[in-house]
Amino acid sequence: MTEAEGAQTSLETERLILRRFTPDDLELLVELDSDPEVTRYLNGGSPTPREVVERDALPRFLRSNERAHGVGQWATVEKASGDFLGRVFLRIMDSDHPEVLDLGYRLHRAAWGQGYATEAARALIRAAFADPSIQRITAGAIADNIASRRVMEKAGLTLVRSFRASRPGHFGGLEQEIVAYALDRADWERQNADQP
Ligand SMILES: CC(C)(COP(=O)(O)OP(=O)(O)OC[C@H]1O[C@@H](n2cnc3c(N)ncnc32)[C@H](O)[C@@H]1OP(=O)(O)O)[C@@H](O)C(=O)NCCC(=O)NCCS
Repeated sequence: MTEAEGAQTSLETERLILRRFTPDDLELLVELDSDPEVTRYLNGGSPTPREVVERDALPRFLRSNERAHGVGQWATVEKASGDFLGRVFLRIMDSDHPEVLDLGYRLHRAAWGQGYATEAARALIRAAFADPSIQRITAGAIADNIASRRVMEKAGLTLVRSFRASRPGHFGGLEQEIVAYALDRADWERQNADQP
């Protein structure tokens, strides 16, 4: 299968290569989720246990490798150094609505503040909207996660609503303020009207 027909194996931006995960990436993923600053706004700062990455997360990521148009999980690599910077993704959250994709990202602390998450997010959104069936990109964050919200805004998403919610095992079960952002195809097309 060629990339034009189906699953993409990599995406390239000015400074990044987004590549599919392989079984060899276990250590990279465990290490990424072992920094409490990285998981601070994801679960309150807990590392993801190695066995969860090995038995749950990585197999799920590998299964998503067959998807086209940016859908799935992407290892984010800095072109200049070859360094693994982290993970970005697009996923279907509700199987009744495959036309809606949810965007996410988490990078090593050393990579923060250089526009990398925005660069990767924009590339995934462009890849997603290349599929005419995709109508909307969503993203969510803890309200206090200003960096994440800023990435959403720079990638063209706007705030849709905020609400309070809790998840077992996250933030000690305490409710958090969640912000939901979205970008509709028509708005993305308007924003990119001058792009080739
Ligand atoms: C969220 C994350 C991926 C952003 O990555 P990044 O590569 O640093 O993002 P970018 O450089 O593209 O953009 C970050 C923006 O947030 C801004 N920012 C970061 N921290 C900020 C803060 N505390 N207050 C205000 N703005 C802040 C930056 O200045 C930048 O905006 P600017 O370009 O207008 O100056 C990164 O912080 C991360 O991995 N965090 C841990 C995991 C996580 O929380 N993921 C999101 C879960 S919803």
